[in-house]
Amino acid sequence: MINVGIIGFGTVGSGTAKILLNNRALIKKRTGLDLNLKRIADLDVVTDRGVKVPDGVLTTSASDVLNDPDIQIVVELIGGIQPAKKFILEAIGNGKNVVTANKALLATHGEDIFKAAHAQNRTVGFEAAVAGGIPIIKVLREGLAANNIVAIYGIINGTSNYILTKMTREKVAFAPALKEAQALGFAEADPTFDVEGIDTAHKLTLLSSLAYGIPLSFDKVYKEGITGITPTDIQFATELGYKIKLLAITKMSDGEIELRVHPTMIPEDYLISRVDDVLNAVYVIGDAVGETMYYGRGAGDMPTGSAVVSDIIDIARGCYRGFGQSELSDYRIKEMRNVESVYYFRFTALDRPGVLSKISGVLGDHDISISAVIQKERKFGEAVPLVVLTHKAKEKNVLDALDKIDKLSVVADSTKFIRVEGKE
Ligand code: HSE
Repeated sequence: MINVGIIGFGTVGSGTAKILLNNRALIKKRTGLDLNLKRIADLDVVTDRGVKVPDGVLTTSASDVLNDPDIQIVVELIGGIQPAKKFILEAIGNGKNVVTANKALLATHGEDIFKAAHAQNRTVGFEAAVAGGIPIIKVLREGLAANNIVAIYGIINGTSNYILTKMTREKVAFAPALKEAQALGFAEADPTFDVEGIDTAHKLTLLSSLAYGIPLSFDKVYKEGITGITPTDIQFATELGYKIKLLAITKMSDGEIELRVHPTMIPEDYLISRVDDVLNAVYVIGDAVGETMYYGRGAGDMPTGSAVVSDIIDIARGCYRGFGQSELSDYRIKEMRNVESVYYFRFTALDRPGVLSKISGVLGDHDISISAVIQKERKFGEAVPLVVLTHKAKEKNVLDALDKIDKLSVVADSTKFIRVEGKE
C-alpha cells in the first residue's frame, strides 16, 4: 500500500481526493498499486467539498502530512510561492516524493526544488501544472522523447481563451467577458496572471525546458496579454479569415530558442483556431513524428485531479525520476526584437489623399512589405481605421517603423499591432 497525503483541499485537492477515493479499486486492478489517501491538510476542514472523506483523514496542520513517516507521496495543492515552497522542500527533506500542480512556483523557483529532489533522490511530479488534464508533460518526457522538437504552440490558459471566444462570438468588450470568465472559477487568485499572459508564461517555461533542455527561463519569456484586444481588432481579424488566440510559442529558430506569449492571429481553418471556451490545446511538431495536437480541459477539479493522480501512479510504479533532462543545453533565448513574424497593423489615419503612401513609405524604409490593406470607412479628413497585413518582418524593424508612423501628423492615435502565425 502507498500512502498519499494532500496539502490543500481546494478545487484541485478535492478533485484529487475524489479520484483517489472513488477509483481506488480501478487503479489497483489496472496498476497493481493500492493508493491510500491517508491525510488531507487544509486550514478549512469544515466547508463541504463534495467528497466524503473517511474519519481521521482531515487535519488543519500541514505537518501532520509532512512528518507522517508512513506517507510516501506528498501532494502540494495550495498554489502560490510560500508556504508551498517551504512545504515541498520539507517533504523532500523528509524523504518523500512530491506531486504539485504549482506552475508559478516551478517556473520561478523550480531550480531549487528540482535540485533538492535530485540530491535526495526524490521526484517532483508536475503533470497537473500545465494544461490540466492534458498529459502534455508525459508527451514531452516520454511519448516524443525521440524527437527534436521543432515548435510548440499552446493555448494553455482557459480563462483568457474563454474571454477571447466570448468577445469573438458575442462581440462584447473585454471587461464584461472577464467578469464571466472569473465566475467560472478557473481564474488565478490574481486574475492579471491570466489576462496578462503570466500564467501562460509559467506553463510555457516548463514546456520549453522539457522540449529544449534549457534552464527554467520564466524571466526571459516575452509576455503580452489580451487586455489590449478590442472588438474592432477581432472584427478585422474575422474579416481577414483569422481567429485571435493567446498563444504560448516556443520554437527553435537559427539555433536559438524563441520563448513568447502574446495574442496571435491564426488562420481560422487551422485546428488550433477551433479550440474555444475554456479548453486548452498544445500543438507540438517533432522532427520524426511531424505535427501532433493534444486537446482537452486545462483546468477544473477532476481534469487537474486526473493529472495529479497520474503522477502519483508513476511515482508509485517507480518509473518517474528527475525533471526530464539529464543534461541541460546551452541554447540562447532569442531576443524578442530579433524574432520574425507576419504582422497585422491597425493605423488610425486621416482619410486624405497621400496618407497610405506616407505610411507604406515608412514601412518600406524598414524592410516591411505589405500583403493586404483594408480601409472601409469613408470620413474625408477624419481619422479612420486602416488595416495592413505584412509579409514576414523583423520585430525590431516593426517597432522602429511604428514609432515613426505614430509621429506622422496624418496619424491620429497609436497603432495597434498583432502578430500573425501560419500561411507564410
Ligand atoms: N487560471 C488557469 C486557467 C487555471 O485559466 O487556465 C489552470 O492552470
